[in-house]
Amino acid sequence: MDKIDYGTFEATMERSRKLEDDLVENPVKYRVLTGDRPTGRLHIGHLFGSVQNRVRLHKLGVYTFIVIADYQVLTDRNTFDSISENVKQLTIDYISAGIDPTDGKTFIFPHSHVPELNQLILPFLTLVTKAELDRNPTVKEEIQASGLKRINAGMYTYPVHQAADILFCKGNVVPVGKDQLPHLELTRVIARRFNERFASKKSVFPEPQPLLSRSPLILGLDGSQKMSKSRNNAVMLSATEDETAAFIKKAKTDIARVITYDPEKRPEVSNLLLLISLSTGKAPETIAEEIGDGGAGKLKNVLTESLNEYLRPLRKRRSELELNADYIKQVLNNGVLEARKIAAETLEEVRQVMNMKI
Ligand code: TRP
Repeated sequence: MDKIDYGTFEATMERSRKLEDDLVENPVKYRVLTGDRPTGRLHIGHLFGSVQNRVRLHKLGVYTFIVIADYQVLTDRNTFDSISENVKQLTIDYISAGIDPTDGKTFIFPHSHVPELNQLILPFLTLVTKAELDRNPTVKEEIQASGLKRINAGMYTYPVHQAADILFCKGNVVPVGKDQLPHLELTRVIARRFNERFASKKSVFPEPQPLLSRSPLILGLDGSQKMSKSRNNAVMLSATEDETAAFIKKAKTDIARVITYDPEKRPEVSNLLLLISLSTGKAPETIAEEIGDGGAGKLKNVLTESLNEYLRPLRKRRSELELNADYIKQVLNNGVLEARKIAAETLEEVRQVMNMKI
């Protein structure tokens, strides 16, 4: 088997920009597959970082599956009590952020409910080597971060499962963050090797392309590299306006009184300015000028007001949806139905080319 070539980040970025343009011109050529693990509710880092990007694609009318990767939660944690609640909350977050699952083109489903998708893992596992799975840089990082001594085999094989998440529907565009690129490259390798080995180079599976988010990285409110619920530095979409205000009050800033936008030298202050910018559409430099010598206090007040205002309609939809459990269930069931239909067709084709028909 050929060695997996991860290429350079710049080359990937360049291809992603071209893809972005073509998506606007030819939305019907594409089938988007995106996904998340149901580990909790979404926060504004998710919203500005990836969900809005999906909403934009969604509005272009691209056929889209959103997979909720519930099996994947079990790779690095032992608890599974809250999985079903998290699946529902995630669905509520998506819909309140602007994903419309009733447009006939967008389907949300948990992959545990699509056996035909999961069955693709078996042939796929024979197309990669154990050494290749061992070398995946994102998996290595996650193993480190988990602090676990005993790593289950699901941790090493979940990128293959992810290939099944993407290829079951022949997804050809996958909006992802940088950390997911190794998984996507593995998916491309699996598609290529499958076609070569089993389909005499006919294209049963496409080689999906990554679409990198254009949004800037959002830091945590404590100034740390990543906004995340577990680090307690994130504003949740589901937070109330008062909780949001209290949380922003505690955000880390610096001692200089005059507010300026300088991501290199003043990362914390600049991050707050960026969040105001994303909520209001104004340039961060302009906001900094307006606040001027108002200091951190004024900066935080402006952020609280603009973020709460920006999130108000989303939160309103969110609380309405929370009261409508039947609707959420119906959305997921509908997603499962469509995913199973497509996955069964793909599995049929796979059996055919693999000489497994009886
Ligand atoms: N691994 C992804 C994450 O942790 C979630 C995911 C599962 C995914 N299956 C996917 C992402 C398929 C894109 C495509 O964020």
